[in-house]
Amino acid sequence: PRPLRIAPSILSADFSRLGDEVRAIVDGGADYIHVDVMDGHFVPNISFGAPIMKSIRGVTDKVFDVHLMIAPTDPYLADFAKAGADIITVHAEAGPHLHRSLQAIRALGKKAGVALNPATPVSALEHVIDDIDLLLIMSVNPGFGGQSFIRGSLGKLRQARALIGGRDIDLEVDGGVTADNAGEIVAAGANVLVAGSSVYGGNDPATYAGRIQAIRDAATG
Ligand code: DX5
Ligand code: ZN
Repeated sequence: PRPLRIAPSILSADFSRLGDEVRAIVDGGADYIHVDVMDGHFVPNISFGAPIMKSIRGVTDKVFDVHLMIAPTDPYLADFAKAGADIITVHAEAGPHLHRSLQAIRALGKKAGVALNPATPVSALEHVIDDIDLLLIMSVNPGFGGQSFIRGSLGKLRQARALIGGRDIDLEVDGGVTADNAGEIVAAGANVLVAGSSVYGGNDPATYAGRIQAIRDAATG
């Protein structure tokens, strides 16, 4: 398996001082910056788009892990690539032509990810597994931060790990990740842990390093 990565989600940051909030998690030990893009159509909430992401690209060289909760996806892929995405993840449920979207992401020179909603089986990815760099298991229904981890996601992570086999693919989990469940999540096979409210809750930058470290410690046992 690939190395452990902690990916704080800026969805739970204080948007009025977004640059400082990104800098604070970088200083606090974040590995990836998880960027949640919501369109109010694929999910019942609206967050932000490529221009806002671009405005924080200059803050850090860390990997921008962009989670697109939008439909359609293809018309916006180039915008996110230009705005500084490193990994672009689309939802398997976002349209009928997942393979085309993945090809388009790689053609833009970016790493391609696929996310699965809680109700979508891992088997949906059997025919694209050689076309992805990251597999994201949603452990909440996407749309909001601060929801509780769905326990059934652990079994799904084990299935996803088996499907990945020896391939060089990140297995990411997103939703309700805390220091209390990070251990079993990693034991189930995940190596990238998204954490929104468990890092940014309270929006006190002085706490971020400790919160990230607590998740990392729990994940590494
Ligand atoms: C949910 C988003 C998540 C969210 C995670 O729709 O994709 O990335 O920000 O937030 P927490 O960690 O608070 O569940
Ligand atoms: Zn996300």
